[in-house]
Amino acid sequence: MKAERIKASIRTIRGWPHEGINFRDVTTLFEDPAAFRSVLNRIAGWAEEEEFDIVVGIDARGFILAGALAYQQHLPLVLVRKKGKLPFTTISEDYELEYGSATVETHDSPIIEGKRVLIVDDLLATGGTALAAARLIRRLGARAVSFAAIIDLVELPGREALTKSGIDVYTVID
Ligand code: PRP
Ligand code: HPA
Repeated sequence: MKAERIKASIRTIRGWPHEGINFRDVTTLFEDPAAFRSVLNRIAGWAEEEEFDIVVGIDARGFILAGALAYQQHLPLVLVRKKGKLPFTTISEDYELEYGSATVETHDSPIIEGKRVLIVDDLLATGGTALAAARLIRRLGARAVSFAAIIDLVELPGREALTKSGIDVYTVID
């Protein structure tokens, strides 16, 4: 499937959640099986070459992609959640939002140590969320961290910030 067809499956909501934001809504892509499969197949094709050991999904839309990838690649799935949602011992990282800050957490899991990890989300904007997730995964001893998403909002410096931090980035569309 062509990138233009995948783009056409994503709804844009002007002025949400704030004036001046064009929100890229992937729920319409998830409702379109051909577009959803095409996105997953592209990310999976790249991931197979990279030989990851673990898939990490970012709360909330990243979970949908990460779950499908973990199933397809026969890999363990680890969750990075917004603060206060995980029941066992957690580690946390703060990151900056447009207004204020937020916190992500993951379980203090021994399975990350020494592993090549792929972090997955729906969209890369400033990179703040992905970098906070990468800090968590590195604190747990990952050997290498990469990141994949459907959309790169190229007017924002997310890709550059991740690359500078030593994280390989794969995105399906700009
Ligand atoms: C969105 C998106 C990414 C993040 C990208 O999630 O799903 O996780 O923002 O932005 P960044 O690159 O500037 O960090 P959001 O924080 O809106 O949370 P949600 O999944 O709860 O909607
Ligand atoms: N869509 C989803 N998440 C986002 C967006 C968007 O357009 N911008 C920043 N985070």
